[in-house]
Amino acid sequence: MLREINPALFERLSKIDRSESFFEFLEKPLRKSLRVNTLKADLDFVLRRLSDVVEDRIPWCEEGVYVKVDDLAKIPEHQLGVVFSQSAVSMIPPLLMEIEPGMAVLDLCASPGAKATQIAQYMENQGCLIANDVKLERVNMLISNIQKCGVLIARVTMMDGRRFAKFENRFDAVLIDAPCSNLGMIRKSYRHARNWKLSTSLSLSKLQKELIMAGYRCLKPGGVLVYSTCTFEPLENEEIVDYLLRNTEATAEGIRLPINAIGGFKEFEGKEYLEDVGKCLRIHPQMNDTEGFFVAKLRK
Ligand SMILES: C[S@@+](CC[C@H](N)C(=O)[O-])C[C@H]1O[C@@H](n2cnc3c(N)ncnc32)[C@H](O)[C@@H]1O
Repeated sequence: MLREINPALFERLSKIDRSESFFEFLEKPLRKSLRVNTLKADLDFVLRRLSDVVEDRIPWCEEGVYVKVDDLAKIPEHQLGVVFSQSAVSMIPPLLMEIEPGMAVLDLCASPGAKATQIAQYMENQGCLIANDVKLERVNMLISNIQKCGVLIARVTMMDGRRFAKFENRFDAVLIDAPCSNLGMIRKSYRHARNWKLSTSLSLSKLQKELIMAGYRCLKPGGVLVYSTCTFEPLENEEIVDYLLRNTEATAEGIRLPINAIGGFKEFEGKEYLEDVGKCLRIHPQMNDTEGFFVAKLRK
């Protein structure tokens, strides 16, 4: 099917993962998942209340569950912000940020706020969370979700993330969940597949390099920066981490989670990446029956 929808994308993806199961899972519908918002209610209490719809726990995130429901809007807990609809792999970045209550944390590309609200949950509503996005309609969505989830420590800003470079050494932890080509979300919508061109990834790659450099500058020495995307494209993943490692003192750290994944590519289309780029995680759909995802844990 993908071959017919966008032959150039099919060819590109075949260079990234040539396994049959990769393409098979790209066409399968995605399991729905939720994160319990412990800012609003106790985890066990909510799991008991939702026992009719919960199918499984998500192995890498204590508060995450797979659910069997057609429409999450029908769950009252969803309307109340007691649970947040969030894809299972998207729960990973906040888990790697070494978040503690009282920290100053920056989420540079935060809307609609799945990870920002998860970060606030791990901060136990203590400290300061700057949740930024560049677009007005996205910022409005972010504010609405932050309010719904009972997050009291967020300051929402509307800036081009690249402008944060002027705030040097200010944050204990920084998340860059970058705007990307969303190819990992093909299971949710073919729109991302239909629209993809290599030039899209090339221009995103340029923006992502500027965003990661700005985020790194804002980070205090010793702090953790997590870079993530929901795409398979190396130009938006390994290329960005490699760029940061080559141009700063940043170091990449290994990621230990109970999840099936492969390391970041050390070479793609003749371009060699630094050895440490292999410490990043690539999660392809067939590995855990999820969306596709890429994540890197970096330290200043
Ligand atoms: C992958 S989404 C973020 C998802 C979000 N982290 C979550 O977990 O709900 C990427 C976001 O980056 C924002 N964005 C795009 N360009 C940006 C820029 N130059 N500076 C800051 N944010 C930007 C987009 O508006 C979009 O909301």
